[in-house]
Amino acid sequence: MTRSAPLPLLVLGSGRDLHSERGVECPGELPALSDPDLVARARAAKAALGDAVFILGHHYQRDEVIEFADTTGDSFKLAREAAARPQAPYIVFCGVHFMAESADILTGPEQIVILPDLAAGCSMADMAAISQVEDAWADLQDAGVAEMTVPVTYMNSSAAIKGFTGRHGGTICTSSNAKTALSWALAQRGDGQVLGGTGKVLFLPDQHLGRNTYVRDLGGALEDCVVFDPHRPMGGLSVEELRAARMILWRGHCSVHGRFTVDAVEAARRAIPEVNVIVHPECRYEVVELADYVGSTEKIIKTIAAAPDGTSWVVGTELNLVRRLAAQFPGKRIAFLEKNVCYCSTMNRIDLPHLVWALESLVEGRVVNQIRVDPDVAAHARVALDRMLALPGETHKD
Ligand code: 13P
Ligand code: SF4
Repeated sequence: MTRSAPLPLLVLGSGRDLHSERGVECPGELPALSDPDLVARARAAKAALGDAVFILGHHYQRDEVIEFADTTGDSFKLAREAAARPQAPYIVFCGVHFMAESADILTGPEQIVILPDLAAGCSMADMAAISQVEDAWADLQDAGVAEMTVPVTYMNSSAAIKGFTGRHGGTICTSSNAKTALSWALAQRGDGQVLGGTGKVLFLPDQHLGRNTYVRDLGGALEDCVVFDPHRPMGGLSVEELRAARMILWRGHCSVHGRFTVDAVEAARRAIPEVNVIVHPECRYEVVELADYVGSTEKIIKTIAAAPDGTSWVVGTELNLVRRLAAQFPGKRIAFLEKNVCYCSTMNRIDLPHLVWALESLVEGRVVNQIRVDPDVAAHARVALDRMLALPGETHKD
């Protein structure tokens, strides 16, 4: 099989995979952070734009940005919200690059998706480049397992990788619907059995979400999982290991959620009587194993919102969201799981000055930081996204 040329150096945190165009990058006219009128300017620009703009805010965004979001949600909900707004000419996506790409794919050709800061990427998405994934697929072909394998990519991946899964009969999942997507994919090839069968999944790019979903949610065996390291020949695996595996997990992880530890869970249990531990499924398997609840950001919010006052929670997900939950529910004791973990630095790049700049530019008739996915890539990615949105059972399983 032909292997691609060595990878160009990727800018960590960019979340781009050479398939979506870049707009204006370095805004000289960005308002100063210290401008006391920033809130008023954002309000005025939003009011002037009216229904022409729809602002989506991921749960990990700063409060100052969430305040201006027309809707907030996890990546699954926001993808659906973007697709459901055909009347809005401008979608301002306060989230990270791969989310804005998905919004561009799911919206109409005349709609414009804007990411207020192009440096808002995702280090996990950057851990799988399309050339590496094509090479890995060639390895699976060489090992004679590709025809038994369905690729599934987490939403946190470039449009090019989503397109790859579309081209190879696969789908996309988010942390909300990973169980449904994975059981669908496992049954697509081989003997059609979800567990105990012969079909395989190549799961990209988050090994933890793949493992946690297969073992914890579906009841699969940990031994069915192997980790494919794109920096090693054949992923560092033997042909026998690839043939025996059911879950071929890409060696990627979230640089925020990967830092929560077993020690932190144990310390929380010692310090807070009857504490409930709730974590995102991007956390490592051993952390998820010790948690009381596991779920997407949307599920974390719903679970804590539904809990009675007086209950105690430690939460293993992004700090902006945990702080907001603590402020929103003062009758519950809500703490952050790990003292050594901080904000998602790329999510945090979207701040009020960038939002004001993007909105005021629109008021002046100027589009900045448009996210445009290459039409050919978008067409294949759309197939995979549509497959995800049409998955059997609940459409928004959290
Ligand atoms: P959600 O799918 O829960 O929104 O998570 C997205 C994300 O980036 C988590 O790190
Ligand atoms: Fe990516 Fe992790 Fe940040 Fe989510 S929290 S955007 S997975 S780096």
